Amino acid sequence: MDPKDKQEYEGEVFFPSPEIVAAAHVQDREALYRRSIEDPQSYWAERAEELEWFQKWDQVLDESNPPFFQWFVGGKTNIVHNAVDRHLKTYRKNKLALIWEGEPGDVRTYSYFALNREVCRFANVLRSMGVHKGDIVTIYMPRIPEQVIAMLACAKIGAVHSVVYGGFSVESLAERIEDAQSRILITADGGWLRGKVVDLKGIADEAIARQATIEHVIVVKRTGQEIYMESGRDYWYHDLMALPVSNHSCRTEEMDAEDPLFILYTSGTTGRPKGILHTHGGYMVYVHTTLKDVFDLKDEDRYWCAADPGWITGHSYIVYAPLLNGSTLFLYEGAPTHPYPNRWWQIVEKYGITILYTAPTAIRGLMRFGDAWARRHDLSSLRLLGSVGEPINPEAWKWYHNVIGGGRCPIMDTWWQTETGGFMISPTPDTPLKPGSATRPLFGIDADVVDEAGKPVQPGEEGFLVIRRPWPGMLRTIHKDPERYKEQYWGRYGNMYLAGDSARKDRDGYIWVIGRIDDVIKVSGYRLGTAEVESALVSHAAVAEAAVIGLPHELKGNAIFAYVLLRAGIEKSDTLSEDLRNHVAHEMGPIAKPETITFVDSLPKTRSGKIMRRVLKARALGLPEGDISTMEE
Ligand code: WTA
Repeated sequence: MDPKDKQEYEGEVFFPSPEIVAAAHVQDREALYRRSIEDPQSYWAERAEELEWFQKWDQVLDESNPPFFQWFVGGKTNIVHNAVDRHLKTYRKNKLALIWEGEPGDVRTYSYFALNREVCRFANVLRSMGVHKGDIVTIYMPRIPEQVIAMLACAKIGAVHSVVYGGFSVESLAERIEDAQSRILITADGGWLRGKVVDLKGIADEAIARQATIEHVIVVKRTGQEIYMESGRDYWYHDLMALPVSNHSCRTEEMDAEDPLFILYTSGTTGRPKGILHTHGGYMVYVHTTLKDVFDLKDEDRYWCAADPGWITGHSYIVYAPLLNGSTLFLYEGAPTHPYPNRWWQIVEKYGITILYTAPTAIRGLMRFGDAWARRHDLSSLRLLGSVGEPINPEAWKWYHNVIGGGRCPIMDTWWQTETGGFMISPTPDTPLKPGSATRPLFGIDADVVDEAGKPVQPGEEGFLVIRRPWPGMLRTIHKDPERYKEQYWGRYGNMYLAGDSARKDRDGYIWVIGRIDDVIKVSGYRLGTAEVESALVSHAAVAEAAVIGLPHELKGNAIFAYVLLRAGIEKSDTLSEDLRNHVAHEMGPIAKPETITFVDSLPKTRSGKIMRRVLKARALGLPEGDISTMEE
């Protein structure tokens, strides 16, 4: 990074050891960054050359129709060719691709050779069921190897996957299936969490009953409890895999660089979740590059990203990027505290994990059990740590650094979004670190903090986080809603991508993300929209109107607080409040369950009828209500 003197930095700074810096694959970040910004196209072309293409691109970037940018135009590839197939020609054929541990303690491992066989077999099953290039397949699964296999099998045959997080529930699943118009759903009988079975198939059945697009359900047997199987609609995964169609070889479909790879639904400012669309070519190059640079992958690493494949962190950095890099990834099914709060540390020791990437909420959650649970284990295999999902508070940063990382492992605090595909602002191992800051933009990324008019703010001032130019991993559009894509991300400034976060920049050019500027709430690092929780509440027969806000919470970062106006004649009670909380959990999932429900007689609204959530928030925090001139009397 900057060849600055240590004393020149502002604030509290941690410098990586000379050994870490010397061994890192990124050297002289500053010079490389300058070059990547001066000539991004040749920078990205070079990075794309690190992977294999069936046919090389004619044009690195097509900017003729902003903001609908296209990357590696004319190039042909398939992300699975690079994530799996190409490794089979090398010694990596016999290397472990995936080590998996179930919550009950069962273990399965797959070499690249074995992973390829499973992916091929399942890809053949999907083809035999009439899944074609471009079809959208919905995946709703626990964290088991078949989830990874299902994603790769879809991509291999050119189908588009839409993974719905296994912690979501009936309505969240139903509206995602509906929007994607999926015919095929891949799920499991259940998954293990905190010693209990999550009834995924039961939830899936209810969701399917709400809309009609699903024709076939493929069910992995994970937990073995009795479930309902509808004849002619539902099939066991293991039965299909035993059919002659599921042989071990399967052609990998040639895809255009710009062909869609997946849709992942995420919450936005208003209304229903939006289907963020990513592609085979640009996304592949971007996640491959960023993981390599930031987590400095070495062949002997055992890398563990403790997120869920159902969120972008899992798509990019559990599944695709580690496999693209030919690494060994670890996947764990269950809860960090089951059966005891040392489960994660036991895993690190048992498997010799070298890189651990998780969220501040998990760190805070484990920190509260004290140091002894971690200290009981040998964590000396760890080399690098990572954080994602929300700003990390310095106290959690230091605990992670000292107690888990033994003071020797730099923490890669990575800022990015579902929309960005991969890391945007992050340290590399050589970067001097400041607890709570994701430090500086990565190669090719021109990020800044600007005011309403789009002018960079002064150091220390708060402003909007923007990205000045396109990058290969960026979303291409919102599924079925290109206007919303254009309006939401490029509408304010025209030539800059609006991230939806507020941030500050300090005198060293370090970026400090503060939080969302819209109605997105980050609960335990999970992204939820106020509108979705409100509509879940309003779908209850007792509720006339609802407003939801996020307020600071010690463990979760933010928690959901709901204000509810009951229908005439309905009495408020503690039982009803409990009912409403459970109703939200049933419709959306346990993560969306409000902390409290406050019954009110009216909600603050603008004269045009919009709920003024910021007024509710100010009142809850005891802060001034701000400009209320538009408020209805
Ligand atoms: C927040 C998750 C501070 C931010 C990968 C962003 C962060 C939103 C960080 C995207 C970080 C993510 N520091 N804030 N290191 N990483 N965020 O789409 O508000 O689930 O806009 O993607 O998470 O959430 P998403």
